[in-house]
Amino acid sequence: MSKQWWKEAVVYQIYPRSFKDSNGDGVGDIKGIASKLDYLKELGVDVVWLSPVYQSPNDDNGYDISDYRNIMDEFGTMADWEEMLAEMHKRGIKLIMDLVVNHSSDEHAWFVESRKSKDNPYRDYYIWRPGKDGKEPNNWESAFSGSTWEYDEATDEYFLHIFSKKQPDLNWENPTLRNEVYDMMKFWLDKGIDGFRMDVINFISKVDGLPSAPEEEGKKYVSGHEYFMNGPRIHDYLKEMNQEVLSKYDILTVGEMPGVTPEEGILYTGEDRNELNMVFQFEHMDLDSAPGGKWNLKPLELTDLKNTLTKWQKGLEGKGWNSLYWNNHDQPRIVSRFGDDKNYRVESAKMLGTCLHMMQGTPYIYQGEEIGMTNVKFETIDEYRDIETINMYNEKVHEKGEDPEKVMTSIYVKGRDNARTPFQWDESEHAGFTTGTPWLKVNSNYREINARKAVEDKNSVFHYYRKLINLRKQHEIIVYGTYDLLCADHREIYAYTRTLRDERLVVITNFSSNTPTFNLQEEMTYTSKELLISNYEVSDDTDISSIKLRPWEARVYKLT
Ligand code: NOJ
Repeated sequence: MSKQWWKEAVVYQIYPRSFKDSNGDGVGDIKGIASKLDYLKELGVDVVWLSPVYQSPNDDNGYDISDYRNIMDEFGTMADWEEMLAEMHKRGIKLIMDLVVNHSSDEHAWFVESRKSKDNPYRDYYIWRPGKDGKEPNNWESAFSGSTWEYDEATDEYFLHIFSKKQPDLNWENPTLRNEVYDMMKFWLDKGIDGFRMDVINFISKVDGLPSAPEEEGKKYVSGHEYFMNGPRIHDYLKEMNQEVLSKYDILTVGEMPGVTPEEGILYTGEDRNELNMVFQFEHMDLDSAPGGKWNLKPLELTDLKNTLTKWQKGLEGKGWNSLYWNNHDQPRIVSRFGDDKNYRVESAKMLGTCLHMMQGTPYIYQGEEIGMTNVKFETIDEYRDIETINMYNEKVHEKGEDPEKVMTSIYVKGRDNARTPFQWDESEHAGFTTGTPWLKVNSNYREINARKAVEDKNSVFHYYRKLINLRKQHEIIVYGTYDLLCADHREIYAYTRTLRDERLVVITNFSSNTPTFNLQEEMTYTSKELLISNYEVSDDTDISSIKLRPWEARVYKLT
């Protein structure tokens, strides 16, 4: 397997709206980010992934871009951005930008033109179709509720939008559009950025004819995933993008890819494939959902998590490259989700970090994860800001008459605003995020959970994450070793080994408040053992053949 800087790196994701406000308008901004680079340096991350900072009417907080080459007014100016990049590079931190090109905003100049007339030169930048029998062209359901089609009176046709109706899908069949995208990518790369995170990039090729999905009882619209996830020309487009743009720069490229399998992951990231560096997949994030989607709650079975992550570890081993993550701006907080944010918040946050960071792949830390930030519970739907959450609530409660309390419970567990509450910097008002009124309320636990306290406390999640990051820099085996699952059927312990030449790591994690016993396999012999990290005190002479684990305990041994 080839050695690459992006395999050895740790990425930190910033959601700019919620990170740090520098001018008191209640919205995070670029100068705010620049003011916190020393904090990131202390944490030790190598790369920042910045969620979109381009001009946008903010229907989906910047994932609806109206100008790809300019900075959102609320976030600052291009000069601020350039200074931020220079300050990152000065500290040895690289920057990858979000590339959102499955769709643009309906306020993008291309779409403004496109909707004017059927023979407008920009018409084919988007996907337009006439209605069928007075209805939408097909029955696909939008990721944000309702139809994926919006009727436009000017030309008596519908346009496709997999996400909100303010996010029309771009037409990748059109070579002129593709070249516009490539030019725009070069514009940013030539400014010195270090790569791209590509938003739902495996959605850009749609099946010819855009057929309706098989009907589902009681549903007006149904998911059309199989007609646009990993579509027919996706690899042609990525190879073209690679040849035209990516291959010319030494960069990190990561494709956000819902609904991808490890076999497809190899096609996207295989070293001989000339497409992307790594895949950001979602299978492990779907394990606590019942059929019918993310709002249908189901408790996590640890064996499902082990099976899924092991499938990805073994599936890509030597053939492709994984991203490792528990959190991003779309996911609930992991310590509330798979840990115990009430009785063992610090222990379980550290355990989860250990379990993930010792795997093969490039780890991603989402802002606030490193201090163990938790989910939030607002009283009413009016306090939520996320379009996915609000649309879902309106559809379920107002159109279908479902019980609002039940819907609120699912929002508490899965809503995207859990990840988006302002970063908790300190104990001052609004957690030091802003001097104004924050665009989304701060989690009320900020006096207890905040970065100032975490940096001061040597036993905090923050310092534990620093250590995890540092270990990756010191031990090649964490980056390049092969992975093997131990005690596959155990319902509380997740343990695995990593192996590189004559070295072996044993990673032992307890996903419960109980005290199960871990037994080391007899054939696993060694002459010396070193404890690399643990979230409880462990004495040096501990016998590891049989370990009674404490609640949410994590240990990593290096055996030689
Ligand atoms: C995935 C992004 O992560 C999410 O935040 C966004 O809403 C959709 N793609 C649409 O861009």
